[in-house]
Amino acid sequence: MSTANRLFEPFTLGGQKLANRMVLPPLTRSRATDEGLATDLMADYYRQRSGAGLIIAEGTVVLPQATAYPRVPGLYNAAQVEAWKPVVAAAKHDGNAMYCQLWHVGRQSHSTVQPDGLPPKAPSPVPITGFKYRSPDGPVAYETPREMSEADIQEAATAFGAAARNAMIAGFDGVELHGANGYLIEQFLDDGINRRTDSYGGSIENRMRFLREVLSAVFDHVPPHRVGVRLSPSSTWMDAIDSDKRRLFGTVINRLNEFGLAYLHLVEPGIAGSSSAEVSAEAIPTADLAALFDGPVIVTGGHTPETADAVIENGTADLVGFGRLFIANPDLPRRFALGAPFGDVRKRGLYGGTAEGYTDYPELSAAEL
Ligand SMILES: Cc1cc2nc3c(=O)[nH]c(=O)nc-3n(C[C@H](O)[C@H](O)[C@H](O)COP(=O)(O)O)c2cc1C
Repeated sequence: MSTANRLFEPFTLGGQKLANRMVLPPLTRSRATDEGLATDLMADYYRQRSGAGLIIAEGTVVLPQATAYPRVPGLYNAAQVEAWKPVVAAAKHDGNAMYCQLWHVGRQSHSTVQPDGLPPKAPSPVPITGFKYRSPDGPVAYETPREMSEADIQEAATAFGAAARNAMIAGFDGVELHGANGYLIEQFLDDGINRRTDSYGGSIENRMRFLREVLSAVFDHVPPHRVGVRLSPSSTWMDAIDSDKRRLFGTVINRLNEFGLAYLHLVEPGIAGSSSAEVSAEAIPTADLAALFDGPVIVTGGHTPETADAVIENGTADLVGFGRLFIANPDLPRRFALGAPFGDVRKRGLYGGTAEGYTDYPELSAAEL
C-alpha cells in the first residue's frame, strides 16, 4: 500500500457518493468526429479510467463557433447528445460521478475553423501575441478578434445553459464551466484582455457579469450543487494577463460562495495550459484561494500520490486531479494502491489520431499485481 491513504477515502459531492478522491480532470484528446460527435473509442477511453471517483469529461463546446480545434466534441445539437449517451454509460458505475466540462474558446479560435470564416469573437479586439495558433499546417499568428456585441454575449451565455441541459440528458451528473486557461470566461475576467467600457468591463463585478450570466443560464437546467467552476488563477498562458490576479480571483471565489456550487476546481501554479512551467514570482498559493471557498475544492497540476495526500491532509483540497498520469496509466488508482510504477505519456496521439496513444496504454499485468 502506498502512502496515499487519504486519496482512497470516499467523498460526497453534490449528494453523490464517490468511492475515492481521485479525479480524471478534463483532457482534450480530439477523438470525436468532425461533427463533434462522441465516439466508441471515447467510450473505451473513459471506461478504462473509470476508477477515478470523479471523471470530468474533456472540454466540450457549446456552439459551433466555440471551438478552436478539429474533432472536439460538442453538446449543442441532438445528435451530439445521443453520441455522448453510450460514452457516459460506459464510464459511470456505482462509486463514481461524471461531469462534462463546457467550453467556449473565444479569441483562442481562428477564422479557419469559424463557421463564417471570419476571425473569432471575444470581449475585446485584443489578439494573443505571445503564442501561436496550432493550425493543421503548423503554427500561425492569432488574429485580432471581433468584439462581441451584447447579443453575442447573450447567445454565448444561453448556449452554456442549453449545453448544460443537454449534458444532463446525455446522462452526465453535472457540468464544469471552463473558466481557466484564458478561454472565453477568463477573457471576460482579466483586465489585460477585457477592455470593454460597457457593463461587462471595468470593475471586477462588471468583468464577472458574463460568468454570472453563464451560471444563471446553467442553473435554469442544472441545480447549483451539480455545477463546478474551473479557474487557473496563476496562469498567464495564452496572454491571460490581469493587473492584480490575487484581487481578481480572490473576489471571484468569494462571489462564487453565493451559489452553493458542487465544487471549485483550481489549476495549480506551475501549469501552463497542458504543460508544466516555472512557478512565477506572482503565483498565488493554491491554499490561499482554496481557503476562500466554502464548498469542495479540487486541485490539479503536477500532483503525485504523496503531494495529493498532503493537500487533502492539510485541508487545502478535498479531491485531486491527475491529468498526464491518468493519460498514461488508465488503472492509476490501482497503481497508487499498490505503489506500482507509472508509465510515461507519449507525444504521439496526445491530440487526435486513433487508438494509438489513447486507449493503448497498458494496465498492470497479472504478474505485476
Ligand atoms: C492532452 C491534454 C489536454 C488537456 N485538455 C484540457 C481541457 O480540455 N480542459 C482543461 O481545463 N484542461 C485541459 N488540460 C489541462 C489538464 O486538465 C491539467 O490541468 C494539466 O494537465 C495539469 O495536470 P497534470 O500535471 O496532472 O497533468 C489538458 C492537458 C493535457 C495534457
